[in-house]
Amino acid sequence: MAKILVTDDISATGIEVLESLDEATVDVQTNLSEPELLRAIADADALVVRSQTTVTEAVIEAAKKLKVIGRAGVGVDNIDLEAATRRGILVINAPDGNTIAAAEHTFAMMISLARHIPAANRDLLTGKWNRKQWVGVELRGKTLSVLGMGRIGTEVAKRAKAFEMTVMGYDPFLTEERAQSLGVIKATLDEAIQAADFITVHTPLTKETHHMLDAAKLATMKRGVRLINCARGGIIDELALADALQSGQVAGAAIDVFEKEPLADDHPLRQFTNVILTPHLGASTIEAQENVAIQVAEEIVKVLRDDTFEHAVNLPSLSPQQKAHLAPYLELAEKLGVFSAQLGQGAPSSVSITYAGDAATPDGGYLTRTFLKGLFGFQYPGEVNYVNALQYAEEAGLRVQEVRESRGRVYTNEISISLQTDAGSHHLTGTLYSESGPRIVELDGYPIDMPVEGILLFTRHMDKPGMIGRIGTLLGNQSINIAGMQVGRRESGGEAVMLLMVDRSISSSVIDEIAVVDGILMVRAIEL
Ligand code: NAD
Ligand code: MLT
Repeated sequence: MAKILVTDDISATGIEVLESLDEATVDVQTNLSEPELLRAIADADALVVRSQTTVTEAVIEAAKKLKVIGRAGVGVDNIDLEAATRRGILVINAPDGNTIAAAEHTFAMMISLARHIPAANRDLLTGKWNRKQWVGVELRGKTLSVLGMGRIGTEVAKRAKAFEMTVMGYDPFLTEERAQSLGVIKATLDEAIQAADFITVHTPLTKETHHMLDAAKLATMKRGVRLINCARGGIIDELALADALQSGQVAGAAIDVFEKEPLADDHPLRQFTNVILTPHLGASTIEAQENVAIQVAEEIVKVLRDDTFEHAVNLPSLSPQQKAHLAPYLELAEKLGVFSAQLGQGAPSSVSITYAGDAATPDGGYLTRTFLKGLFGFQYPGEVNYVNALQYAEEAGLRVQEVRESRGRVYTNEISISLQTDAGSHHLTGTLYSESGPRIVELDGYPIDMPVEGILLFTRHMDKPGMIGRIGTLLGNQSINIAGMQVGRRESGGEAVMLLMVDRSISSSVIDEIAVVDGILMVRAIEL
């Protein structure tokens, strides 16, 4: 029975979706201390969090069975993605369930900022009636710069257009056509921040966006600019912002997210009447919480059922059609990986994988991940999967190249591997016969034809009388039955290859005996 651990509050409907999975138990434990979390995670198969739980490397290390972490929301900066990926743990999120909530919160913040609504409200509640003090500005005719024109930035821009604002958008992925269709002026960062009356940030927090608006950038803005951050704490440098508010360079700021949450009691941003602070409420609507909880719960159920899922953060997603098309090729690619691991011997330094014909259909890199899963999984059984296969290659210093060709050299579909190790190089090609599944059809340049399955013995030897008989005798002496055989050569008396399928594992002592037979150049036992 799988255990799904939920450590932040998510909507009850999401919990019901998780509970619909018969073969799982749902364990909801919120507000855990780190030692409590480390204990609870130890036997969990899935973890569901919002933004409160920090999934550190230590948490991931303590999780002995964890397959998937689900984030009920967009940002995954509370999850150590690198550590999760290294351990082969899938990370999924709910990317669009709270887009409208966050866009509306941003708008609420902008209007509140323009019209001093929170400050006027505070005043009134303390018995004052200050009509003169809280004169605001209109949005109409003002320039709003949106930094990050993704899902939320785009929704904010659309709403600003309805308020008759001029909207400038800065995003490396914003095309001129997209900008035009939204009625947005595509701008550089400097153009956007220098022209704006209001600036709102909607990027993820990354190395590039950390302190994207720092003291130097704040100084280049129009005096009296107003700033909004409903994305992530740290995109605007909070201390620089406090200085700019103090000097009047920034007329007001509305901030929902902070470099450190909860916000410290003595944080400098707490002192300003022209600053609006909300405690990370961007996604806090009934609708958004329902949406993200259901979305992430449905994805967790799919992952645990081994169905197709959509929103993996550390793995490309496949449609059900792509998955159905790829399934037999995945089997072939993995077997070629396992075959290569035993053929290669020595540390692999580079591999070039050529997908040809029907095997060359775009696959989001899955076939290469699967080949690498076979290659490294042989050495590290049970540890390598689609999620971490590329990491294993990177850590091993293996250069991986993919080539796609519209047609195979001989067959309608081919996957060819050129592997270089510090002990030499090998080449092998596999294909998929519709009637008999994955087959190996070329080995080190020699044409052969054998199913890629079972226990195989591969030799390279000199083509001379008696070679096959001598190997057959050595195997027979150990009661190892030969079930199939393929030989290949280019010319009589030259170098040849032999691939035998046998009924039992071949011990290393038999391999050693074969290796010293006169005329044997190389011998490998390969188990698939
Ligand atoms: P998204 O991925 O759809 O959009 C992010 C955009 O930022 C992308 O278009 C990307 O190209 C752009 N971007 C990335 N790096 C950039 C850079 N250096 N300069 C300019 N643009 C850059 O994400 P989204 O769903 O729109 O979410 C945006 C942000 O809002 C995220 O940080 C998310 O975590 C946050 N968020 C906060 C709340 C909240 O409660 N306050 C709720 C939802 C989302
Ligand atoms: C998000 O990234 O989705 C938001 O921060 C919302 C949240 O989970 O609180």
